[in-house]
Amino acid sequence: MNHSLEIKELKKSFQDFKAVDGVDFYVEEGKFFSILGPSGCGKTTLLRMIAGFLEPTSGSIKIRGDEMIGISPNKRPVNLVFQNLALFPMMDVGENIAFGLKRQNCSKSEIEEKVKNILEKVHLGGYERKNVSDLSGGQKQRVAIARSLVLEPSILLLDEPLGALDLKLREQMKIELKKLQHEFGTTFIYITHDQSEALVMSDKVAVMNNGKFEQIDTPENLYANPKTSFVASFVGETNIFEARLNEDRKSVLTKEGMNFKVFLVDEKIQTFCKLFIRPEAVVLLVDDGMEDMNYFDLTIKTILFDGSNTKVLANVDKSDHEIMVSLPQNRRFAHIKEGEVVRAGVHVSDCKCYE
Ligand SMILES: Nc1ncnc2c1ncn2[C@@H]1O[C@H](COP(=O)(O)OP(=O)(O)OP(=O)(O)O)[C@@H](O)[C@H]1O
Ligand SMILES: [Mg+2]
Repeated sequence: MNHSLEIKELKKSFQDFKAVDGVDFYVEEGKFFSILGPSGCGKTTLLRMIAGFLEPTSGSIKIRGDEMIGISPNKRPVNLVFQNLALFPMMDVGENIAFGLKRQNCSKSEIEEKVKNILEKVHLGGYERKNVSDLSGGQKQRVAIARSLVLEPSILLLDEPLGALDLKLREQMKIELKKLQHEFGTTFIYITHDQSEALVMSDKVAVMNNGKFEQIDTPENLYANPKTSFVASFVGETNIFEARLNEDRKSVLTKEGMNFKVFLVDEKIQTFCKLFIRPEAVVLLVDDGMEDMNYFDLTIKTILFDGSNTKVLANVDKSDHEIMVSLPQNRRFAHIKEGEVVRAGVHVSDCKCYE
């Protein structure tokens, strides 16, 4: 079976700068695939090559089995939603959505029918004659997506489409976009530098750094089993310790003088390494004695109350190294006070070492 999208050895150089440096991946039909990476890592360059606005230096782009290199953008079965939405302010909602259909020479009645249907699907039924400028940010967002989806592309490309919205609206739209994608069953390729957006919405996420993909995985795996230190620090919060690998290669001595049994992710590690521990992996108020745990003391510095997201900032042992610990919403922890020393534990499999 052909994949919705299949990319092989794709490269793009600007003079001698490699913006996209050999990317390989495929996306199955109807999936939500995100490309997550910091500013300047090459995300937009990659998307523009898929859309056909930019000629690759080398490599292959296949959509449903057909090679796209050399095919002009308007002949590709893809549509691009831009960060700034690019709606036409002088046209009403209906005209904005009808724009692409008119260029496809659809009949007037067919256009009316399609515009009506798509507006209902994005929960804007009856909004045809509204001015675009009178819509809220989230409504504009849905018009922009409807305008692309009405053309029934095989693939919808979205370049940071929530970037222009305020935080609260972004949170709502995340969930809404995921639902829309599910209802339409269209393959989405979604670009973002916001790890939470990528984790919440995607079936799979590719983490991009310096023009390359470092890992392609499900959100759960990306978070639980990052393959590189870049992925481990870019996806989710983490505590990092400088450490030296002991001779047994099963434990490390941290800079603060703690001996921790660890899981070596990079087999290449010689002596110096970085130990990564997620904030929620640290368990407070434990009893020592389990073979597969590491134990240490924490001096509570500050409690950062944030409802279900409450965290504790604490110093490790007697050092000034500070770590973040998620505080489970459990009455058992309600009495923890600033300045108090508590016993903490972390499972060996949650102590991951990278180069
Ligand atoms: N036409 C161009 N000529 C020269 N360099 C370019 C060109 N387009 C992009 N670049 C460079 O390629 C790199 C990747 O750019 P790109 O726009 O793909 O990044 P991005 O991951 O989308 O970043 P952001 O999250 O900020 O949008 C950047 O260093 C950029 O300066
Ligand atoms: Mg970009």
